Amino acid sequence: MALIDSFGRRINYLRLSITDRCNLRCSYCMPAEGVPKLQHESMLSYEDLFRVASTAVEVGIEKIRVTGGEPLVRKGVVSFLERLAKTPGLKELVLTTNGVLLGEMAHDLRRAGVERLNISLDSLKPETFKRITRSGDLGKVLDGIAAAEDAGFPPVKINMVVMRGVNDEEVLDFAALTLKKPYTIRFIEYMPTLKCQGWHEKSFSGGEILERIGERYPLLPLVSTEMAGPARNFRIEGAPGSIGIITPISGHFCDSCNRIRITASGMVRGCLFAEKGEDLKPLLKDDDPEILRETLRRIVTEKPDRHQLADKESGGVAMSQIGG
Ligand code: GTP
Ligand code: 5AD
Ligand code: SF4
Ligand code: SF4
Repeated sequence: MALIDSFGRRINYLRLSITDRCNLRCSYCMPAEGVPKLQHESMLSYEDLFRVASTAVEVGIEKIRVTGGEPLVRKGVVSFLERLAKTPGLKELVLTTNGVLLGEMAHDLRRAGVERLNISLDSLKPETFKRITRSGDLGKVLDGIAAAEDAGFPPVKINMVVMRGVNDEEVLDFAALTLKKPYTIRFIEYMPTLKCQGWHEKSFSGGEILERIGERYPLLPLVSTEMAGPARNFRIEGAPGSIGIITPISGHFCDSCNRIRITASGMVRGCLFAEKGEDLKPLLKDDDPEILRETLRRIVTEKPDRHQLADKESGGVAMSQIGG
């Protein structure tokens, strides 16, 4: 049965965060000291995550994207994904990762039934990469991308959050990657999710990104599919890869939003920037599948029409706690 919200949008995509932990500390995602970690007992067990996910599929979800924090740092993730991939009715199981552990895990993930990978990568320069992630080793992520290819994954999508004065001068280098490789490179507008003053100075709009690439390469627009995420897609003429622009700030894609989110602590959110989520943990204790189904349907009904981010000075939430 289709899940339709009160604005007529068809909701078929669940972003399921399985941990708030991460092996990086990206400056746009969390403060330098990190964020308070969930206590073990506040995290949903794999059993509960599986129940929530399969119930979501029963009520109309068709695509699940597993996220974090960094999903690959949670122990037992491969067996969990293997079980999740077999959920009757689920059409697509995909995962977003920072790629650090992919070198060692890509083959297992492929065997478990993950269909595609999105990888966060904000710089192709080791020093800049280290500065943005406050610790990361670029070589590991590049090895991870190669391992994904080797394991037989379809060409990866690479997410680059573009920040003025931080990595914006690499936009053309990332775009040029699509001339050599069949990757999809997605340029993402920086979202002020942390309480930081002056985010406007770092923001770099999708329009500017397109202009910069367009000055150098001819860009052809591509059409999106029904289960697609928020990117508008293009191809440089003759390139094996493609380019996506994700503009949460300058151009709301809220009109065509097709998703809900569940966090590692069992909070369900109708919108990435909803003021608060609703706690599913008490319902999971009760073990009443109908109440769980009703709650998920209600979250969809109450889903807001759009976020108000650009109107506020900033938000106050670390993306690692919600899963992007
Ligand atoms: P595909 O299914 O491959 O299209 O992936 P996706 O773009 O939905 O997911 P991914 O995890 O790769 O996220 C890419 C970027 O889009 C991240 O910066 C996310 O935070 C952002 N994003 C994803 N979904 C939403 C959303 O619903 N609202 C907003 N504002 N940003 C989102
Ligand atoms: N603005 C834009 N994108 C962000 N992500 C995390 N925090 C932000 C932010 N403040 C992205 C990551 C990852 C995806 C899940 O979310 O780069 O690719
Ligand atoms: Fe970790 Fe992703 Fe946040 Fe970076 S953006 S700190 S990789 S969860
Ligand atoms: Fe959907 Fe909220 Fe993201 Fe808009 S901000 S696309 S309504 S989740």
